[in-house]
Amino acid sequence: MFQDSSFSALPEALRVSGLGALRVGLIGTGVVGSGTCQLLARNADLIAQRVGRPIRLVMAAARDLHKAAQVVGPDVDLVSDPLALVRHPDIDVVVEVMGGVTLAKTLVLEAIAQGKHVVTANKALLAEHGSEIFAAAQARGVVVAYEAAVAVSIPIIKVLREGLAANRIHEVVGIVNGTSNFILSKMAEGGQDFAAALRLATELGYAEADPSFDVEGVDAAHKTALLAANAFGADVPFAQVHAQGITELDPWDMACARALGYRIKLLGIARQQAEAIEVRVHPALVPEGHWLAQVQGSMNGIWVNTDAAGPTFHYGAGAGSLTTASAVVADLIDVARLGPAGGPARVPHRAVQPTAIRRWPVLPIGQVASRHYLRFAVHAWPELLTCLPDWLQSVGLDVQSWAHVRHPEDGHQDALVVLTPSLSADDLAARLELLRHQSGGVVPVAVWRVEDLPCSAM
Ligand code: HSE
Repeated sequence: MFQDSSFSALPEALRVSGLGALRVGLIGTGVVGSGTCQLLARNADLIAQRVGRPIRLVMAAARDLHKAAQVVGPDVDLVSDPLALVRHPDIDVVVEVMGGVTLAKTLVLEAIAQGKHVVTANKALLAEHGSEIFAAAQARGVVVAYEAAVAVSIPIIKVLREGLAANRIHEVVGIVNGTSNFILSKMAEGGQDFAAALRLATELGYAEADPSFDVEGVDAAHKTALLAANAFGADVPFAQVHAQGITELDPWDMACARALGYRIKLLGIARQQAEAIEVRVHPALVPEGHWLAQVQGSMNGIWVNTDAAGPTFHYGAGAGSLTTASAVVADLIDVARLGPAGGPARVPHRAVQPTAIRRWPVLPIGQVASRHYLRFAVHAWPELLTCLPDWLQSVGLDVQSWAHVRHPEDGHQDALVVLTPSLSADDLAARLELLRHQSGGVVPVAVWRVEDLPCSAM
């Protein structure tokens, strides 16, 4: 049905024998879909040279066909029923960039059942239903590629599954939500409040259709679950991933953390313990000398600590149209390179062979140990200035660093901030309860974790 004119234009020496163009069906023509169309067209020659055959967008499914026609151009068939696209015999690979979970899952499973490869940017779908989807793909001998689902422009899935495949991966710590990092950066500059920064992130196309996913840490949790799956060969039950976003973060804590030599960032943390894994998302203090502390705006950064390569750091755009399309098209290139028979995936979906996937217990957040930052309001308890270190010591919290931070405009906000020794959140809560009891009501007004990552020379 579809004419393969671009293939005949490719020099003979570059063609992969027996293969025509890879025929792509695109579901979703929004921010990521439009970037994908643009990139496939703009770099078509280069892509064909790299693959040995062209990659051609032949069909797209969208709700608003008029709008979609402006995005995909005149040579692409448009349909409003995505199932028709998924079942079309002339489509080799389905690109799902419509988002959402319920319909996306139906479409992806149907594409797999039809023997089609799938490329998706849908982190929610894979974090919540990855096991079922990957098993179906494995059984059918097709690939579900998802580089765009995590930290868009940074090829981190490839790094974990291929580049670092010789390594035991100890931990992955990342800033993986561009929207919240953008908001935090704007707030730290003091120029914009939370709501204005979120509005701007939405206008720029960074935020999810439902931005609460960004600011409540859910999007970062989806991505961190996928990072953990690939770092540890793990089946990560998403319901056990702790997600706390940036909505309760007071900009004053960002200033106080600076006084102690830290920046506050929304981190996704995947760490291997002896018999469990940590998979969690929350704001945390990061030493200002660490690369992660320098990640600003909508950029993402991911630090991976390994046994042979040592620590590596990966940095790039964390949201956007072409930036995400870069990963979608790279996945299409991988699919196009699979060869005539398709064959089993060269690289397993979650870094280890399916039979080696383990369901590690996820350590409950209350049992995860770290140092903690506590902020006390000096105005409420002036006696703290002289008594607090002793009071904390009396409940077993020997403070290691502390600072009295004066608010530049509002003396009521003057703060005493301290860093505790490393202990679990449950243990800390018990000791703070003791403090409240012994001191006649003293409680910290803010508590955040500290991630004491080693700082390498930058
Ligand atoms: N809303 C996401 C973010 C888009 O801000 O990171 C990229 O996944």
